[in-house]
Amino acid sequence: MRVIIQSDYQEMSKYAAHMIAEQIKRKPQSVLGLATGSTPLGLYKELIRLYENEGLDFSKCTTFNLDEYLGLTPQHPQSYDSFMKENFFNHINIDPRFSFIPNGQLDPLNLQGIKIYCEWYENEIQKEGGLDVQILGIGANGHIGFNEPGSSFGSRTRIKTLTEKTRQDNARFFDNNIDHVPKYAVTMGIATIMDARQLILLASGNNKALAVKKAIEGPISAMVPASIVQMHPQAILIIDKEAASELEYDW
Ligand code: GLP
Repeated sequence: MRVIIQSDYQEMSKYAAHMIAEQIKRKPQSVLGLATGSTPLGLYKELIRLYENEGLDFSKCTTFNLDEYLGLTPQHPQSYDSFMKENFFNHINIDPRFSFIPNGQLDPLNLQGIKIYCEWYENEIQKEGGLDVQILGIGANGHIGFNEPGSSFGSRTRIKTLTEKTRQDNARFFDNNIDHVPKYAVTMGIATIMDARQLILLASGNNKALAVKKAIEGPISAMVPASIVQMHPQAILIIDKEAASELEYDW
């Protein structure tokens, strides 16, 4: 596990963008696992800049997003589908046929339909040869994707019920009203994430400092899903000084 501490959010974003750009140059057909949330916004912005100014070419890449809210249409402004288009896909030369986002319109009561869909998503990742790199943020409660505390380390793509904490944290995108935040999401599982050949976890700000500390200096525990990164042979954490402020070890 490598921990790279950058001075601020912008430096963190640039560092991560540089790593992704190198990956794409090395392997134009890279399979990228993408994340949403405020944290990777700067990374996407920098990748867009590299596309516009330095000709970084996404045309042969395939992408798979980590998760999606259940119950939102792709057109809903807060769906992760809209997020990705608005903040990344609409500004680069990615082929929309090769950018996958979990379907947020599954019926939570149709268990068989969910099972078939989630297996299909996993198979598509396999068909592309697996994820070369998975970008991750971290929830204040230690979640990755929408794998909430207690998620099995053996989990695969499936439906998860969101915790009150996550819904509160994300209410800022839903008129600050927790009742408007979906209760369920479909998310890659922890085992799906761990299959990626490389993990890049980003964290910024004081409100992530405790989660970062627990993830990398605490015991590996299903109660802190991000702590599983300690078991990954190629995990890189790129964090800013504030997110590193609770760390005790001299990384
Ligand atoms: C969200 C997403 C995660 C993300 C996390 C942190 O709920 N499902 O993939 O990493 O919470 O979000 P943010 O970056 O906005 O703090």
